[in-house]
Amino acid sequence: MPSSPYFYSFALFISLSLLFFLYGPHILPLKHPPTSHISIADDLDDLSLFRNATLSASSSRASSSKVSHLSFSNARPKIAFLFLTNSDLVFAPVWSQFFSGNERLYNIYVHADPSAKLSDTHKLFQNRFIPAKRTERASPTLISAARRLMANAILDDPLNLYFALVSQSCIPLHSFRFVYRSLFGNSIRVLNAFSTQSKHKSFIEILSRDPNLAERYAARGQYVMLPEVPFEKFRVGSQFFILAKRHALLVLKDRKLWKKFKLPCLNIHSCYPEEHYFPTLLSMKDPEGCSHYTLTRVNWTDSVDGHPHTYDTGEISPALIHTLRQSNSRYSYFFARKFSPDCIKPLMKIASKVIFRD
Ligand SMILES: *[C@@H]1O[C@H](CO)[C@@H](O)[C@H](O)[C@H]1NC(C)=O
Ligand SMILES: *[C@@H]1O[C@H](CO)[C@@H](O)[C@H](O)[C@H]1NC(C)=O
Repeated sequence: MPSSPYFYSFALFISLSLLFFLYGPHILPLKHPPTSHISIADDLDDLSLFRNATLSASSSRASSSKVSHLSFSNARPKIAFLFLTNSDLVFAPVWSQFFSGNERLYNIYVHADPSAKLSDTHKLFQNRFIPAKRTERASPTLISAARRLMANAILDDPLNLYFALVSQSCIPLHSFRFVYRSLFGNSIRVLNAFSTQSKHKSFIEILSRDPNLAERYAARGQYVMLPEVPFEKFRVGSQFFILAKRHALLVLKDRKLWKKFKLPCLNIHSCYPEEHYFPTLLSMKDPEGCSHYTLTRVNWTDSVDGHPHTYDTGEISPALIHTLRQSNSRYSYFFARKFSPDCIKPLMKIASKVIFRD
């Protein structure tokens, strides 16, 4: 009969391990909601999509040089508008007026959370929905959704050279022409847009000083970001950006940082993966190619629980639009958020006379 103290310690160890094995997974994940995890199946599915997108981009580059100027002689570069939403796209009438008359110069793609019940979609967005997966605050699912939008846009149309991420609570602050010319330059330079792609700047906020940076860095555990992301390289920035195509491709090719940023947070209160992943990756890969500021205006005064100020109907006026456009950078703001859904009425009243006059 085994009766040595070793046996008892061994038996205790086995039963404790067994207990942990059986119950551990049910105890541990309570720190974060179950859906915040990215499943292996979803991750592999995305990987295949991103690979398809990067492959199609390199083959269209190769064929465009072969066909030389022929196929692209009448082509104009386009802006891909990527709408990330989990509710109705209530500002569709404003966006519809924004896009009106510029059909050859843009494409629209929508990623809508499949669990959100969207009511009748405005015709602007019909057939523009891409295969979507669940999204949730304080989880890396918002990074995946943004990458999925970029991949679909790249696969859909090789003329998409800029990728503007917006949400359902964003509105335009300028005309489409203004935005287009600011990104691509005047009409003569538009013809050169394909050959000068390597000089296209991305407009993404990249900040290295933030009072909560250390806490945000450690949201998944103190040392888990190492060695891929040392603290000195960790950046923060606005969730909404406009990326040049080469940067969108760079984001789709990344596996190294994603491995870390896809980990679920242990500290939900410092968990904003989408505000960290893109600024950190782009600042590591091509800091000079990025503006370091965003073109989407947000009002963080008196923010509550990570939500910015939401403008209501009483605040909408021509003066507000003019104020929101003002920036300290070379460009005036293109878009603004957030607005309550009922702002659509007063916004439509001033759309042609104020918003789209510039
Ligand atoms: C990627 O392309 C392959 C081959 O065309 C296709 O079978 C696969 O479904 C694509 N993956 C995704 C996620 O679209
Ligand atoms: C920002 O929001 C605050 C309220 O939170 C408001 O008082 C202020 O006027 C807003 N600023 C702008 C520029 O709209």
